[in-house]
Amino acid sequence: AMITLRELMDYAAEHSFGMPAFNVNNMEQVRAIMRAAAAVDSPVILQGSAGARKYAGEPMLRHMIAAACEMYPNVPVVMHQDHGSDVGVCLRAIQSGFTSVMMDGSLMADMKTPASYEYNAGITAEVVKIAHAGGVSVEGELGCLGSLETGKMGEEDGHGSDDVLDHSSLLTDPEEAAQFVKDTNVDCLAVAVGTSHGAYKFTSKPSDDVLKIDQIKKIHERIPTTHLVMHGSSSVPEDWLEIINNYGGDMGQTYGVPVEAIVEGIKYGVRKVNIDTDLRMASTGAIRKHLHDNASNFDPRKFYKAAEDAMMEICKMRFEAFGCAGHA
Ligand code: G3H
Ligand code: 13P
Ligand code: NA
Ligand code: ZN
Repeated sequence: AMITLRELMDYAAEHSFGMPAFNVNNMEQVRAIMRAAAAVDSPVILQGSAGARKYAGEPMLRHMIAAACEMYPNVPVVMHQDHGSDVGVCLRAIQSGFTSVMMDGSLMADMKTPASYEYNAGITAEVVKIAHAGGVSVEGELGCLGSLETGKMGEEDGHGSDDVLDHSSLLTDPEEAAQFVKDTNVDCLAVAVGTSHGAYKFTSKPSDDVLKIDQIKKIHERIPTTHLVMHGSSSVPEDWLEIINNYGGDMGQTYGVPVEAIVEGIKYGVRKVNIDTDLRMASTGAIRKHLHDNASNFDPRKFYKAAEDAMMEICKMRFEAFGCAGHA
């Protein structure tokens, strides 16, 4: 059954667990997440970006998620839009049946240029008004995600733009967060606490206390009923990185956020944990290996199935580690 993000987050807060929110673009990702959730009895957040709607086609994405609900009637499903760039993107997601939208006003509509507080609060408040009128939840974002090492926003291939963010915008300010919640009435708030998007987060192995836990604590204390979201939370599995590179891939050495660090964040108030890169890597690694090991195969179902199984294992591990297993 479909539920809103607000309902799920309120329940998660009451029971002190965190929820992975996995990005979905295709059938195998949706199936992997649902199979894992059913196996460990967890609710799910399926999030689609505007890019996902463009990739699959809006009706296809909508019907895939409806199909997931039909196949797994006992799994509560939040259908969340990830990183809405403007009011129109959020409105179209609402019209498409999403039960939750993210208005990311931390960046301008180009999704590259950091926005002012006034722009962010204004556009987010506008989305909240429309969404709440229709019973849809809203996630906002305050602060810019970027590497604390370099100030750069994450890039998928590790060779991104040279724009360097101001260090102060890389950590969300607790007082400003309190003001933002007052000004917008968002249900959930994505915060900058040391993570960044994409596969290239850290150049050397981070310790389990890599997150800015003090910052998380202070923000949570100031806005205890607004649920905290952590983007850029892939762990960048070392085993899948090795498989990708051993089977013809060429990814640079890189590290993600240790699962233990995320679990620590959940203890201090993080409730929604966004993960995309980990499933991308598992999928790519599994397909590379499968095609290498089965050179005569030309039935795509075989390698898609390998990708689905690999993604499912990661989903299961995250459901269990974050404490949502058993809470469907
Ligand atoms: O944070 C962004 C997510 O990884 C989604 O990426 O816009 O390429 O679908 P996408
Ligand atoms: P990763 O790139 O760490 O998987 O983060 C995904 C994300 O934040 C989607 O909104
Ligand atoms: Na999101
Ligand atoms: Zn994100």
